[in-house]
Amino acid sequence: METRYNVMKKVRDLIAGERQLLAYTCVHGCAQNEADMENIRGMLREMGYGFTENPENADVIVVNTCAVREGAEFKIYGNVGSFKKIKEKNPDLVIVLCGCMMQQESVVEKIKHSYPYVDIVFGTFNIADFPLMLYKKLTGKKRVFEIMQEGKIIEGLPTLRENKFSASVSVMSGCNNFCSYCIVPYTRGRERSREFGAIINEIKDLAKEGYVEITLIGQNVNSYGKDLADKPTFSKLLRAVNEIEGIKRIRFVTSHPKDLSDELILAMAECENVCKQLHLPFQAGSNKILKLMNRKYTKEQYLALVEKIKAAIPDISLTTDVIVGFPGETTEDFEDTMDVLHKVKYDGVYSFIYSRRGGTPAAKMEDVISEEEKHKNLERLLEEQKEIGYQNNLKYMDNVYEVLVEGKSKSNDNMMSGRTESGKIIHFEGDESLIGKFVNIKITKIKTYYMVGERV
Ligand code: SAH
Ligand code: SF4
Ligand code: F3S
Repeated sequence: METRYNVMKKVRDLIAGERQLLAYTCVHGCAQNEADMENIRGMLREMGYGFTENPENADVIVVNTCAVREGAEFKIYGNVGSFKKIKEKNPDLVIVLCGCMMQQESVVEKIKHSYPYVDIVFGTFNIADFPLMLYKKLTGKKRVFEIMQEGKIIEGLPTLRENKFSASVSVMSGCNNFCSYCIVPYTRGRERSREFGAIINEIKDLAKEGYVEITLIGQNVNSYGKDLADKPTFSKLLRAVNEIEGIKRIRFVTSHPKDLSDELILAMAECENVCKQLHLPFQAGSNKILKLMNRKYTKEQYLALVEKIKAAIPDISLTTDVIVGFPGETTEDFEDTMDVLHKVKYDGVYSFIYSRRGGTPAAKMEDVISEEEKHKNLERLLEEQKEIGYQNNLKYMDNVYEVLVEGKSKSNDNMMSGRTESGKIIHFEGDESLIGKFVNIKITKIKTYYMVGERV
C-alpha cells in the first residue's frame, strides 16, 4: 500500500504550476473538530496548497461539521448552500464535507441527492485518508464518499496550528457515557486514548518550538488511559506535562463530574503550571432530569464535588454547560438548575435549549412545557448568570495579573487582548509585537465578559 506521504506528494506534483492553489477551511463544533482541522490543514499544506480567508478565491473548500444540535446542522447546510454559486463560477473547485454530521446516514443521503456539487465526504474516523480521496477526485472526477464506522487513532499526521504560542493536543477521542440526549458517542465512537509517550513527545516538541500554553482535549479527559495496556491516569499525564520545560500554562477540556477523581484534584492543586480553571458541565440541577439524562450523579453529589474542588484550589475558576428544556423538565425542575448556578457562581455558562437528536434515547421522550416557556427559562438563566459573572469579576479590580497576549482586540484596533490564568479576557493598550508573550496587567475596568487594564 502506498504511504500517506507518497499520496500527498502525488497531489503536490499534480497541482504544481505557476499559481499556487488555495484552500479555504471552515470548522464548526468543539475543540476536537478544531484539532482535526489542524491535521487537515497540515495535510493540505503538505500537498502544496496555500490558504485563503475568502471562499471565492479557493480551489478547495473543506467544512468540518458538528451534529450536536439541530441549529448547528442548519447553519452548516446554509454554509454549504452558499458555496453553490462559487462552484458555478469555478467548476474545478473541490468541495469537501467531513466531521460528525457525516457519521449520520440520513445526512450523507441528503448530501448525495440534494447537494450534487459536494465532491468529497468523509467522517470522523478516516481523516488520515483525505489525501487519497482528494487524489482520487482530482484524477477521476467522480464524487468520493468514504465513511467508516470505527477507526484507530493515527499518529504523526502533519499539523498546521493556528498560532505559535498556544496549542491544543488531543489525548483521547470518543465517548462511552451515552448521555441520553447526546449524539457524540454515535459520531465519535468509543473512547480511544493516545499513547502516553506520544502525547508527551508531541508536547516536548511544541515546547522546543516556543509554545507556552497547552490545552489537552478529549470528550471526557478523565477517562484517559482506561483503554491502554498499563492504564495511565489523566492525573499522571497532567503531572508529566507539568514537568515539561517551557510549558507555562496547561488547560484541559472536558471533564465529566462522575469521573473527576480526588487524585486529579490533588494534581491540579499541586502542579504549578496547571491553570486553576475547570470546565465542569452539570447539564441540569434536578435529580429527576439528571437521571433521565443518564448523567450518573445527583445535584447533591455535584455540589459536594464543587465544594471539594474549591477547598483544594481556593482561587479556582469554574465554567459549565447547561441544557434547558430537556424532555420532562418543568419550570420547577429548572429552579434546581438556577439553584446550582447561584450556589457555584460560575465564571462562564454555556447554555443551550435541548435539541432532539435522532437515534438518541431522549429523542423519544416527551416535553411537558412549551418551547416558549423553555426560551423564557433560558433568558432568565442568561440574565442572572450575567450578574453572577460580573460580581465574580469585581475581585479583579486594581490587582495585577499575568496575561498571555493572544492578538488584537476585536472591538478596538488600538487594544490587544489576552487571558489570565483563570481564562478571563483582558484588553489593554499595546501592539502586535506582544502576541504570544506574558505581560503584567493592572485591572482598571470591570465588564461582564472582559476586563480592561494597563501594563505595569
Ligand atoms: N463531552 C462533553 C460535551 C460534549 S457536547 C461533556 O460531556 O461535557 C457539548 C455540550 O453540548 C454538552 O455539554 C451539552 O451541554 C450540549 N449538548 C449536547 N447534546 C445536546 C442536545 N441534544 N441538545 C442541547 N445541547 C446539547
Ligand atoms: Fe455527550 Fe455525555 Fe459523552 Fe459528553 S459525556 S460527549 S455529553 S455522551
Ligand atoms: Fe459537535 Fe462532534 Fe464536537 S458533534 S460538539 S463536533 S464531537
